[in-house]
Amino acid sequence: MFKSLLSASFLLLVFAGSAPAAEKFPSHPITVVVPFSAGGPSDAMMRILGERMKATLGEAVLVENTTGAGGSIGVGRVVHSAPDGYTIGFGHLGTHVANGAIYKLNYDLVTDLEPIVLLPSNPMIVVSKNAVPAKTLAELISWLKARPQAATAGTAGAGSGSHVAGLAFEAASGVKLQYVPYRGTGPAMNDLVAGQIDIIVDQLSNSINQVRAGTIRGYAVTDARRAESAPDIQTVDEAGLPGFHMTLWSGLWAPKGTPKDVIAKLNAAALDALNDPPTRKQLENLGLQMPPADKSTPDALGAWQKAEIAKWWPIIKAANVKVD
Ligand code: MLT
Repeated sequence: MFKSLLSASFLLLVFAGSAPAAEKFPSHPITVVVPFSAGGPSDAMMRILGERMKATLGEAVLVENTTGAGGSIGVGRVVHSAPDGYTIGFGHLGTHVANGAIYKLNYDLVTDLEPIVLLPSNPMIVVSKNAVPAKTLAELISWLKARPQAATAGTAGAGSGSHVAGLAFEAASGVKLQYVPYRGTGPAMNDLVAGQIDIIVDQLSNSINQVRAGTIRGYAVTDARRAESAPDIQTVDEAGLPGFHMTLWSGLWAPKGTPKDVIAKLNAAALDALNDPPTRKQLENLGLQMPPADKSTPDALGAWQKAEIAKWWPIIKAANVKVD
């Protein structure tokens, strides 16, 4: 009798000890790997979201910037992390679509990662150093075409959003660009303000404050509508490059095998942050566009990523991008 009681209470202890991980998740801070430099658009968005996700999760959300190779190194860090929800990754069209068509990755962007949530997207903006003798997009394109050698365009590395946008701008306008890779468009912006490089086809959220401050020149946003946060900046359609539309969507992913209920908690915390009025205002002030409500589930991000891979890989492969 005593023995069966002992074994029963022992079993209870064991099971009580290992109550399903999700119930207790999180029990310590979560790391979000941002595959680009601190101070850039991805870093800024994730730090704003992380601050509010902390309130829902009850644990800090720490940003770790692991950079290089167009963001593919940071994504690899997440792929090779424990599938327990404590190391997840920020990414976007560049890191979770384009890189698969450019780099020989030692991971699969779809099968080695679990989608968590689609995040806000950034319209792109064509910006230049102030020394460029152009006031309109048409004048900029003529100046770029008239130059004996290709103008320098800052990017966050081959496959990054600013690189894919640069390729799309070349295709739409017929200009030729010489890409200067950085570990993020944060440091690229510093060099643009300093006049070290000529242009960036940048995420609006990264350029908007510099354009407002007059330290760089903004020509047009790659969207059919003007950005509410920058109503004075023309659209490409208004500026004479109709149809050159591109918004850089972003998301969160976890390593393959991360429990579904942990994914659900991370998804809920991100949605809480996106629906939190002060957080939303901060993001919209930067020109960010909220993701559609009908794409808020992990599966919706997974389906969207696959659709974008089908759309962009042929375009990017045709550009024949060389990486060392
Ligand atoms: C960054 O945060 O630096 C960007 O997301 C880089 C890019 O993809 O252009």
